[in-house]
Amino acid sequence: MPFIPSEVTLSVAGAGAATGLLGSIVLLRLYKLRKWGWVKSNFSLRGKTFVITGANTGLGYETTKALVRRQATVVMACRNLTKANEAIGKIHTELGAVAPGALIPMELDLASFRSIRSFARELVRTVPQLYCLVNNAGLAVRTPEFTREHYEVHFGVNHLGQFLLVELLKERLLEQQTRVVVVSSRMHEIEAEIDFEQLGRWVEYGSRLNRLYNNSKLMNFYYARELYKRGYNVHVLCPGLCHTDFFRHYEPKWYHYLVFSPIVWLMLRSGEQGAQNIIYAATESVTTPDRNPVTGYFISNVKMRRSKFHFDEETSVRLWDASVRAIADADAKSVEQSVSTSSESTRDARRS
Ligand SMILES: NC(=O)c1ccc[n+]([C@@H]2O[C@H](COP(=O)([O-])OP(=O)(O)OC[C@H]3O[C@@H](n4cnc5c(N)ncnc54)[C@H](OP(=O)(O)O)[C@@H]3O)[C@@H](O)[C@H]2O)c1
Repeated sequence: MPFIPSEVTLSVAGAGAATGLLGSIVLLRLYKLRKWGWVKSNFSLRGKTFVITGANTGLGYETTKALVRRQATVVMACRNLTKANEAIGKIHTELGAVAPGALIPMELDLASFRSIRSFARELVRTVPQLYCLVNNAGLAVRTPEFTREHYEVHFGVNHLGQFLLVELLKERLLEQQTRVVVVSSRMHEIEAEIDFEQLGRWVEYGSRLNRLYNNSKLMNFYYARELYKRGYNVHVLCPGLCHTDFFRHYEPKWYHYLVFSPIVWLMLRSGEQGAQNIIYAATESVTTPDRNPVTGYFISNVKMRRSKFHFDEETSVRLWDASVRAIADADAKSVEQSVSTSSESTRDARRS
């Protein structure tokens, strides 16, 4: 037998191990790609109108594109109309033929009651039949941000904004049995709670996770449960960890890239793949008396699965009542403010 130096043996073994590891990662990724799933149905959605909040980018954009490809009409409810029109241009370029009027941009800023109310009025006036409302818009931030009504944005935009929107559309949604899709996240299962004492306030929980975001995604699930109990045709889902603009507020350090890249590469799906869960919720009949938000079921990987979270009925109703109160309080404050502003200007006018 020829003599082989131990360095050679070691480097051959090292190369073998590295190839094995790389091969396993690639195989795992292929397995995940299969597991994440795709919507198989392709029936036409002609004549059906969908409203998608936050449709200009990320999952909302991918959902809009997929639905319009199936001949749906989509109201793109976006806080910035320039971005909405740019997204429409992009869809036209990517799809080629899109029926005239199939994409309707409308302004909706979920961080402003005034904008939500004016959007709801305009929608009721211009869209007589609504097939589906997708409450997709959402965000996660690292430094304090507040809505126009002074609620911190995870509560204010991710929950309260869509709560008010649905309230304003409720007659139509119930009468037409419009599908209401709530985009939650599996983060509702991790370190999430509904902190009623601090609801709407910016709180530092001293966790490495963004607890305010996780809490808001738990609110989404509780909210979907309560909607279901109140007779809405509601579907709740998690799109999975997706490569979208969602992480725009995170500034990873260089070593984060080094350490986490392989994990992220394994876990991160494309916006198009994550949107499959929204498309599934918006188009397929998957909610049953056994599997629905009240029994803890939600859509994940394009099928129904049960949440690990233990929901309770008291929190469901309490969140609903607290949301009604949060809207009433903000409205009362704004009336007070406008009264005091108008009496100040009357005083000023008398003085001059
Ligand atoms: N990406 C993920 O890994 C992931 C995982 C689980 C759940 N989700 C959920 O999926 C949903 C969509 O996220 P994404 O990944 O598509 O994020 P994204 O790429 O950041 O898109 C979010 C959309 O929401 C809009 N938006 C933010 N604040 C708004 C406001 N005040 N009023 C109206 N629209 C507003 C954004 O508008 P601008 O472009 O103008 O900012 C954008 O269109 C969110 O609810 C998120 O919580 C995402």
